Amino acid sequence: MKILILNGPNLNMTGTREPNIYGRTGYEEMMEQVKRAAHSRGHDVHCFQSNHEGALIDEIQRAWRDNFDAIIVNPGALTHYSYALHDALASVPMPAIEVHLSNIHAREEFRHRSVTASACIGQIAGFGVTGYILAMDALNAAKPVKNG
Ligand code: DQA
Repeated sequence: MKILILNGPNLNMTGTREPNIYGRTGYEEMMEQVKRAAHSRGHDVHCFQSNHEGALIDEIQRAWRDNFDAIIVNPGALTHYSYALHDALASVPMPAIEVHLSNIHAREEFRHRSVTASACIGQIAGFGVTGYILAMDALNAAKPVKNG
């Protein structure tokens, strides 16, 4: 499978940012782990991070044009309010899985709601970088059907 790994605002600060919540592994190292796991499963991954909503949307549309099979997305705080990102995910036919490093449901109330998850086939939260790898296995195992 050709998978886009998409990370939103502030994910590039992982490692130094609130390490008690997000851990001490840096963003680049995290993505290296994801790439290694992908390659060992025979997947081809493209990792993209941006602090800008529009750049993330452009990347989703590019992945569709480039015939990617799936998206694994951690939208960062955009999770909680970006209808534009929701619509971008809903606009493309390939399945997406939402991942969060932290368990958003056990944190502040504003993090409990995801407006992007309804454009995804499922959500994995609270398992750190392992969440991205679990998402790959879920894509493989589930023969997912796009919601909506
Ligand atoms: C996050 C959770 C979001 O609430 C937060 O804004 C982030 C990271 C996570 O991976 O746990 O930036 O998406």
